[in-house]
Amino acid sequence: MNQDFEADIWIVDFGSQYTQLITRKTREIGYRSAIFTPEHCKELLETNKTPKAIILSGGPQSVFKDDNDYSHLFDLEIPILGICYGMQLMAKHFGGVVAPGIQGEYGHADLKSESSNFLKLEKYHVWMSHSDHVDKVPENFTTVLKSDDGIIAGIKHNSKPILGIQFHPEVNHTFEGNKYLEYFYQEIGKLKSDWKSGQMVEECLKHVTEYKDKKILCAFSGGVDSLVAAVLTQKVVGDNLYCFFVDHGLLRPQDLQHIHLLQERTSLNISIIDAKETFLSKLWGVDDPEEKRKIIGRTFIDVFEEKVHEYESNHGVNFDLLLQGTLYPDVIESISPHKKDGKSVTIKSHHNVGGLPERMKLSLLEPFRFLFKDEVRAIGMELELDKTWVYRHPFPGPGIGIRVLGELTPERIEAVQASDQILFEELHSENLYNECWQAFTVLLPVKTVGVKGDYRAYEEVICLRLVGSIDGMTATYSEFPHAFLSKVSRRITNEVKGITRVVYDITSKPPGTIEWE
Ligand code: XMP
Repeated sequence: MNQDFEADIWIVDFGSQYTQLITRKTREIGYRSAIFTPEHCKELLETNKTPKAIILSGGPQSVFKDDNDYSHLFDLEIPILGICYGMQLMAKHFGGVVAPGIQGEYGHADLKSESSNFLKLEKYHVWMSHSDHVDKVPENFTTVLKSDDGIIAGIKHNSKPILGIQFHPEVNHTFEGNKYLEYFYQEIGKLKSDWKSGQMVEECLKHVTEYKDKKILCAFSGGVDSLVAAVLTQKVVGDNLYCFFVDHGLLRPQDLQHIHLLQERTSLNISIIDAKETFLSKLWGVDDPEEKRKIIGRTFIDVFEEKVHEYESNHGVNFDLLLQGTLYPDVIESISPHKKDGKSVTIKSHHNVGGLPERMKLSLLEPFRFLFKDEVRAIGMELELDKTWVYRHPFPGPGIGIRVLGELTPERIEAVQASDQILFEELHSENLYNECWQAFTVLLPVKTVGVKGDYRAYEEVICLRLVGSIDGMTATYSEFPHAFLSKVSRRITNEVKGITRVVYDITSKPPGTIEWE
């Protein structure tokens, strides 16, 4: 896909944690959308680019502290939807009154329709997350929704295609949330839906074609993003694509089998770099999570660079580009307004090849930098890749290094490999693999007492982590059948050396993260 994604719908980001969801949902219902900061919108408008509609996102701030002038957005004669903070900005701009929040409203709310000239639904059961609220509707606007306690929850312009809603239609907790977005685009905006993520194949191919005579190196993990990126790129550049897979010794048996299968069943040129010794010799005894991540990240870069040089001199090749399966959420994160303010904090140091040293002189080729994971999956299906490859669960770069909590030792790594193997056998035999976003086992640094045979055992604990998610940014623990969980538990305590107890993690994200380290 071209580096400039020409979006019809601009989602203007005021810092809501749900902005990405608005964009994804908009694309899901057939409109080509992307996220922009208010400043970026201004720059684009100055170059005569105009969207077909805009959505103003929610945001953590208060309109009382925002003195910016957004006339450049409100003066556009196009459909405008304001969500939460976006609706408050809209009310303020058009002369209404916003009242400061004393208590705020967070969670579910049931609203009442106040106008026959609004979307008709069986119920208006919505997700609220706000503090301030609109107290007086601007002139030429009508209240279309109110909450039980009389708070204005929806306003609509009497003659222009402008709508404001206080709640979050993009969040799954809102009943029929997509209907509000469809209503805005179709009924209010009179816009035809005309976009499907499958169409992106053509666009991505066109982008890659610009580099068809270059030598391209792919840091290949075998996961969905790098696999689909490699297959797509190879369609254009053929033998000019070389995939390097680094085995850091922190894989599960199925990961290496998967790479062997891809070597056999695709025409990708995949070299496996066996760097187990190099990684593990640096990791034995390390127990601090960030330290582990940093060692793995640094060693990855060193090994990768060394092997690339070796390959270049042995085969007389000079690589020009590094192909990466970077996705839109990573790009958004790096341009987020919070990040610019220096407000974002590092939760985990992600192991990412984006940090290759400049001396390698490789430009980046990122055909999916404007796509979400489900869209990359749609492309994978469009390219007729095996469904099990396309819907494979994500596996983190540092592998089970971050699933063995505490000290890394060969026995503890083996315990996670063995318990994971059991979990996967059972998931497949019960047909539950596709019921979750990710499933894995974690070895806890805790010893507990148990009885094995007639003997006292004092051994470690395996935790099962099974979560549902759409993009990994938020997640809910999966409610799998007890019979399934107890079978996995029985097998792990019977078959895995050193484990006396199995526990189930029922934490969602937030506040937990998916991985434990
Ligand atoms: P968390 O633990 O942050 O994970 O909730 C969100 C998603 O990201 C994966 N993850 C990683 N992936 N390198 C990766 O390639 C990493 O360092 C890394 N850490 C977490 C995690 O498995 C989940 O899908």
